[in-house]
Amino acid sequence: MNHGLDDVVVAETALSHVDGAAGRLIVRGHELEAIADRRFEALLALLWDGLTPRPWTEQAIRMALGVARLVAFGRLAPAIAATDRLSSVEALRLLLATLADVDTAPHHILAVAAVPVFAAAIARRRDGHAPIMPDARLGQAADFLRMLHGENAPAEHVRALETYLVTVADHGLNASTFTARVIASTRAGLLSSVVGALCALKGPLHGGAPGPVLDMLDAIGDFDNIRPWLEGALAHEERLMGFGHRVYRVRDPRADVLKATASALRGGSNRIRFAEAVEAEAIALLAQHRPGRRLDTNVEFYTALVLEALAIPRDNFTNVFAMGRVAGWTAHVLEQERIDRLIRPQSRYVGPAPRRPVAA
Ligand code: CMC
Repeated sequence: MNHGLDDVVVAETALSHVDGAAGRLIVRGHELEAIADRRFEALLALLWDGLTPRPWTEQAIRMALGVARLVAFGRLAPAIAATDRLSSVEALRLLLATLADVDTAPHHILAVAAVPVFAAAIARRRDGHAPIMPDARLGQAADFLRMLHGENAPAEHVRALETYLVTVADHGLNASTFTARVIASTRAGLLSSVVGALCALKGPLHGGAPGPVLDMLDAIGDFDNIRPWLEGALAHEERLMGFGHRVYRVRDPRADVLKATASALRGGSNRIRFAEAVEAEAIALLAQHRPGRRLDTNVEFYTALVLEALAIPRDNFTNVFAMGRVAGWTAHVLEQERIDRLIRPQSRYVGPAPRRPVAA
């Protein structure tokens, strides 16, 4: 039995490939590093290419997303009050669940457009502010930051968020994408697949890590405490957030893209130097702790530094991850719907055998 399905191939995809041995991420024939500076809408055009009934250019996607953000905004009012007792990612789950699978087509556009509208409204409500209506003329990244903060974001912030969204948009058969494909294979519909995928993303072993990365940096506090704090955590068998990966046996290439973004945003700030010092010590201690397994920085470590610099509240980090990853989820759902084969593996029964009927 392989409980984690490590290295088991269960789908064919033309969307992305994670080369864990070489530390490469290939998206539709491009190395991540070669496309990381594209706009988010351009990445969507790349991912959806050939999967939708009609072709979508970057410009058409930008316009359609703008209109669909307004549609999503119109769905907020009846449900937003019900999110108050939930965490931010649970609130996003609830709001996405209000979209019907038979909702206004095209569903892949609505799903991608709804995430930033809902995520911004959730964050503002937590601070006691009303949601801000989308501006259909803007791109997703710029409009999200505007809806979140109530003013147009500086161009360098928009670029940094675009780089983040593109970097996390697709990543092979990660847990949430696999979930989306399983749901799509039942013909349940794209929006249901996206809701299920978000449920899988929420966990700290997948998309829930970047908030706790900042909690860790705060708990460590200063340079002198780095080694003792990390040693203590590892002695208690805690997992260091932002390190390790199921597939990468070397450094996660997304970490370097986002490290460069975080450094450009924050200059040589103390926060970056502190994070680098924590990273170096963590890698060294993890090597001693698990000598047979290389545990290196993953995408979440510098995600935390980028999103913090954009003044995104840390309990919203997973929702911003979803804003990028929904691109991949929708493409995988469209790809799976073409395959149209129910995903239904087998389990091995290890329970008791039924008792033999007693003879009359
Ligand atoms: N800190 C301490 N120990 C670790 C860590 C870590 N970050 N990661 C793995 N280990 C240990 C793990 O406990 C295991 O020990 P043992 O053999 O005694 O059980 C050993 O190293 C090997 O683990 P593995 O089989 O390589 O790990 P995995 O594939 O089960 O888990 C992971 C991968 C990402 C869930 C894990 O590395 C982890 O929990 N990291 C911290 C959380 C995190 O950063 N999550 C974000 C993941 S990247 C975002 C994404 O792509 O979804």
